[in-house]
Amino acid sequence: MLHSAVLNVMIKAAQRAGRSLKRDLGEVENLQVSLKGPRNFVTAADRRAEEIVREELAKARPDYGFLGEEGGVREGKDKTHRWIVDPLDGTTNFLHGIPHFAVSIALERSGVIVAGLVYNPANEEVFIAERGKGAYLNDKRIRVAAREHMADAIVACGLPHFGRGDLVLARYEIAAAQQHFAGLRRYGAAALDLAWIAAGRLDAYWERDLAPWDMAAGSILVREAGGFVSDLNGGGDIFAKSQVVAGNDAMHRGLLKLLKEAAKEGGQDANKEAAKDAVKEASAP
Ligand code: IPD
Ligand code: CA
Ligand code: CA
Repeated sequence: MLHSAVLNVMIKAAQRAGRSLKRDLGEVENLQVSLKGPRNFVTAADRRAEEIVREELAKARPDYGFLGEEGGVREGKDKTHRWIVDPLDGTTNFLHGIPHFAVSIALERSGVIVAGLVYNPANEEVFIAERGKGAYLNDKRIRVAAREHMADAIVACGLPHFGRGDLVLARYEIAAAQQHFAGLRRYGAAALDLAWIAAGRLDAYWERDLAPWDMAAGSILVREAGGFVSDLNGGGDIFAKSQVVAGNDAMHRGLLKLLKEAAKEGGQDANKEAAKDAVKEASAP
């Protein structure tokens, strides 16, 4: 398949970084048994991968800006174009030697994502999309699943880490999803969750507290595969809200409704608990 010049640049950068990550994964597997564990090694692997991506992209497009998870913002002379990069999405998986992680590269033009790539070096799956040109997995056209009933659908989610995010709310959301969907999954790499929606493997996905580099490439993949992406209120600015709900039309709408109801139920229960506590406090001697 013939790719556009920009996609060629993105693919080359991701594959070079991917080779480095794959080599490092071998070492991570060895380090599982060492007392110190692989944590420091993984931090270095992550930085190395970002540097490779940055270097490759800058070679081809020296003036574009760059936003990377590791290195932060680097302004470019060209103020309309910016790369948004997560060199290693799914760090916890990588750290444990689980081959489910990705290099994620998106190109933003005047605030709109116009191209996206998600690459899993472990199985060499390359997901790509360009605005208006569809989404592809290893050069084969992909589309979101056609499933319309939650009872047949698999939904993926993120789980807030202990001490981060709203654990109580997450429990209400997860309970609601368990009641309605055929299966609930937590894979641990947001970019791949979105890519898998685009490929029709997953039917829906939601997560809170995400950064732009987690969602930028995946969001264009889903949209170009005919799916829908929004924040938890159905709005379009997922970066500003740091959250995402994705799926085909029916599953996206269904999941939005379910999450809204779960949040309401959680809020009501929290109010009831607060009222009970207030009564206890007032009647205490
Ligand atoms: C994380 C993964 C994970 C999601 C986290 C992200 P990282 O990115 O995408 O699936 O649940 O919230 O931060 O840290 O592995 O690049
Ligand atoms: Ca990430
Ligand atoms: Ca990362």
